Amino acid sequence: TTGDVTLDVGFGNTAACRSAITYIDGDAGILRYRGYPIEQLAEHSTFLETSYLVLYGELPTAAQLAEFTERISTHHLLDERLKEMFRLFPRRSHPMPVLAAGINALSTFAMPPVSLEEKTLEQQTYRLMAQVPTLAAYGYKNSLGLPTLYPDESLGYIENFLRMSFGVPSRPYEIDDTIVRALDVLLILHADHEQNCSTSTVRMVGSSGANLYLSVAAGVSALSGPLHGGANQAVIEMLQQMRDTGESVATFVQKVKDKKSGVKLMGFGHRIYKNFDPRAQIVKRHADAILRERPGHDELLDLALALEEAARSDDYFTERKLYPNVDFYTGLIYQAMGFPSNMFTVLFTIGRLPGWIAHWREQSLDPATKIGRPRQVYTGVVQRDYVPSDQR
Ligand code: SDX
Repeated sequence: TTGDVTLDVGFGNTAACRSAITYIDGDAGILRYRGYPIEQLAEHSTFLETSYLVLYGELPTAAQLAEFTERISTHHLLDERLKEMFRLFPRRSHPMPVLAAGINALSTFAMPPVSLEEKTLEQQTYRLMAQVPTLAAYGYKNSLGLPTLYPDESLGYIENFLRMSFGVPSRPYEIDDTIVRALDVLLILHADHEQNCSTSTVRMVGSSGANLYLSVAAGVSALSGPLHGGANQAVIEMLQQMRDTGESVATFVQKVKDKKSGVKLMGFGHRIYKNFDPRAQIVKRHADAILRERPGHDELLDLALALEEAARSDDYFTERKLYPNVDFYTGLIYQAMGFPSNMFTVLFTIGRLPGWIAHWREQSLDPATKIGRPRQVYTGVVQRDYVPSDQR
């Protein structure tokens, strides 16, 4: 049940570490959190229950989940001085650097900033799980010039986040259970993914002894790139550009294959999954269910389905083992929920948070951990003597 998996150490594929959190078999399309298949968790679990599993290694009892939920729901509030921070950013700021700044700022309130003492570690875990959604909602509201809403402890984790994001003081916020369940599932699907770029970043920064907040903030920066978590925003912009210009699927696919323009089929391809991304299949089912009920949103879904169909029957993509990844359909659902495309990677961040925290804890609590120090292949000039400037 546990085996040593040795990774070839080559460029882009470094044998990073040993971990007991997530197992991926890229050829078989297997993804398991602490041994539980992602398909079963997406169907039966909730994001907070899955977060507990990823963080502590076991599915919680009802009492453990109730205490975990209570601890988080009572930590959503931010220090009032932190709220002022959002006014410093231009209205058009991308929410990912704003979120990274907010999480870095949280570390200034953590006393002691770095401690592996159980009580402090638990407190920092709850505070991050609770306050990142608040930071995300406050950054979004601030970008719209709208008033922020204080968290409501009586609401569930997802409901509270949606209300802080879309609610306004002048009227009650109506919870849409379909949207809540869809976001719950999407966050479950993003909770962890072993040594992806951002999680490896969190581990690398944490290996120096940097505290949990600063390590997670570095993960936010890594996730923001369009080749990683930023892909969900890039997919929607790709579909909107095709819709608005009337560019056909065949023309776009040919442009990708020509490679001249550097245009990629965003939301396709994966370093590990070489047949299918099990998460993409689950997202696609939810996208179909939600978008068919919401007129106007299914136009981009039909375009996405046509793109997938064209790619699946084209050797360029099948020979390179390029299939939809988790980002291909998620943006369609986020957009149907009412989020603008620049918020999609923020939602990815909220989902990935328990995974980042779990990896930081796993590494920091392991006495055998050493500071990360990758080596390189030196390709520069081997040696030469100094030349005075008047002889250059
Ligand atoms: C995530 O690692 C994780 O687990 C990440 C993630 C997670 O949960 O943390 O799963 C989340 O980041 C998903 C990936 C989201 N990114 C995108 O959708 C961006 C588009 N995809 C690509 O940029 C690419 O597929 C990557 C970055 C995802 C993977 O890149 P690799 O493994 O380095 O593959 P590669 O760039 O070496 O490509 C191999 C070949 C190349 O062609 P050739 O040079 O052999 O002719 O496939 C081509 C590439 O040009 N290719 C694509 C393509 N992806 C790869 N061609 C067109 N469109 C694409 N999307």
